[in-house]
Amino acid sequence: MVPLMEHKNKFYVTTPIYYVTAKPHLGSLYSTVLADVAARWNKLFSKKVFFLTGTDEHGQKIAEAAAHAGKSPQEFVDSFIHPYKDMWHRYHIDYTKFIRTTDEYHKKAVQQWIEILMKKGDVYKSFYEGWYCTPDETFVTAKEGSSSDEAPSCPSCGRITQRVSEETYFFRLSAYQDKLLKFYEEHPDFIIPKERAHEVVNFVRGGLKDLSISRTTITWGIPFPGDAKHVTYVWADALNNYITAIGWGQQAKKDEFNFWWPADVHILGKDIVRFHAIYWPAFLMALDLPLPKHLLVHGWITVDQKKMSKSFGNVVDPEILLEKYGADPVRYYLVRQMAVNSDGDFSYHDVQERITSDLANDLGNLLNRMVTLALKHEQKQILAPKHWSAESIHLRDEYYNMLEDLKKHMHDYMYHLALARVWKFIHQVNAYFHGKEPWKLAKHELADFIEVLSATAHSLYAVAIVLWPVMPTKMEQLLASLGKKIALEGDQLQKLEESPWDMTFSLQQGETLFIKPPEIVQEPMTSQETIETKSTSPTINIDDLTKVELLVGTIEQAQEVPKSNKLLQLQVNFGSLGMRQILSGIKQSYSAQEVIGKQAVFVVNLEPRLMMGLESRGMLLVAESEDGQAKIITPAAPVPNGTRLK
Ligand code: MSP
Repeated sequence: MVPLMEHKNKFYVTTPIYYVTAKPHLGSLYSTVLADVAARWNKLFSKKVFFLTGTDEHGQKIAEAAAHAGKSPQEFVDSFIHPYKDMWHRYHIDYTKFIRTTDEYHKKAVQQWIEILMKKGDVYKSFYEGWYCTPDETFVTAKEGSSSDEAPSCPSCGRITQRVSEETYFFRLSAYQDKLLKFYEEHPDFIIPKERAHEVVNFVRGGLKDLSISRTTITWGIPFPGDAKHVTYVWADALNNYITAIGWGQQAKKDEFNFWWPADVHILGKDIVRFHAIYWPAFLMALDLPLPKHLLVHGWITVDQKKMSKSFGNVVDPEILLEKYGADPVRYYLVRQMAVNSDGDFSYHDVQERITSDLANDLGNLLNRMVTLALKHEQKQILAPKHWSAESIHLRDEYYNMLEDLKKHMHDYMYHLALARVWKFIHQVNAYFHGKEPWKLAKHELADFIEVLSATAHSLYAVAIVLWPVMPTKMEQLLASLGKKIALEGDQLQKLEESPWDMTFSLQQGETLFIKPPEIVQEPMTSQETIETKSTSPTINIDDLTKVELLVGTIEQAQEVPKSNKLLQLQVNFGSLGMRQILSGIKQSYSAQEVIGKQAVFVVNLEPRLMMGLESRGMLLVAESEDGQAKIITPAAPVPNGTRLK
């Protein structure tokens, strides 16, 4: 068995390195956000974290794309580096290192890897005759029984393959079949989720052929050591990035390499499992290096159930999402909405819904209501009470339960479940806060009022810490509203778990945490020009809304106001609240006779106003139709006069 390194207080996570034939799309963002969440989660435990991402820049596919763009391959790949780094930066991706496979140190290390394997006899020269899929950069075996000149389609992308017939160097993959099977058996949690392991095991059981690792028909690749006719096969080049980035192959970086390797988790999409679960472990076995601890294999983001791709014209541009919604809400959407272990369909409707309902309503409003209420009653410093009420203790128990469940989900990399669990707790905090009616307690029961504030603040504090890996900037803002900061020394989870709720909070009114997005007018897809948003007013909170008193009343009498071509003078019955005179500018849309007997909605706590010498004590609500006509707002069914809108 391959020896596993002893446990160290470190965490090494990687993303796939991306082919640089286009700017990053939502699929690459998804892999990268998952890795960032994993990295930040481990920072909460005060682990030393190495987060690697980068670009895969060699191979036939890139050479062809560069030729198509009329650029040299190097110029072509260089042009994508800024867009990648910039996008990651704007999405708060806090990577440690960005590797490019055209980096000199990487190229040298890959050549060294080949030399070692040649010496061992694991790499040998021969002749390859078969099929190659350029979009997937993969060798494809023809189906049993098919004629030798019939091109098979690629099992991964379905496209027709090309005939390849050339001298090549092979990696002796067949020699690792049994060792691989033994490894999978001894490490049942190597591939997460487990279901993905079956296809890998079956494939290996079916028999492994030696793998061609060099090409003579292309020049854009790492030159094969000692044989200038050949360049290294792009996957043999690319997979090695996971070790070369942390110093493998560089004498001066030996300690660094030994500290970080093996990777704790490689994150990748389901289309590249075979390369990571079969070739990569075999390459490492050939070097006598320990194997990565886990592969986290996520599904695809689909649009209308189809994989996002340029040819379907359904590629979602992360840039547009960023401008519309901001980085953290998009990160939240991706992690929450997409189940790590299956495909997930992208829709703007779902993004809007998640932001409006989960972020703005459930979380943002709770914070805002709590802070506004406290400050309104001059409670800024919130001390923990000496004794907690039964309801607060119950909430605290739920907090401990939440932390326990959350840790388990995060440990299993089931991030969508972890977020769902945190939201269950946020709902409980909302129920506690509203159930306690602190706005009433504030007037007469100061100690109880402060207890509710304290319990809510303790709950929100924990929520902010555990959600920080997903929404770092927003959660730092939430913490600032509580007078706190994110601390990365010591085990933050343990601190939360052991907290008896004895913290003091210093509340600050911050900017609105999450803004509800305006309704979508037209769904943008690929290009910037299609963004269209309605202009909206700044959001208000529920307290602002309750300041406006809206009542239903029946118009009992109506007459034209002399000399005014706009106004009608109305006498409105508000039931037990009495009659009121209200003037309304609807004369161009309704005659006096037409409105008599109608039930309508009125704002009744506006300051009284004099119009044409007459006093108006309220305002009739109307909507304007497309032709500029006022339309009175009427309840769908009659209600008692004086009914309050809520
Ligand atoms: N260059 C190789 C990886 C080499 S790693 C040593 C590669 N690059 S890629 O740019 O094509 O894909 C990179 C990652 O993006 C893969 O994990 C892939 O699964 C992911 N995604 C690409 N499209 C995707 C979706 N539509 N949805 C989710 N992720 C997908 O493969």
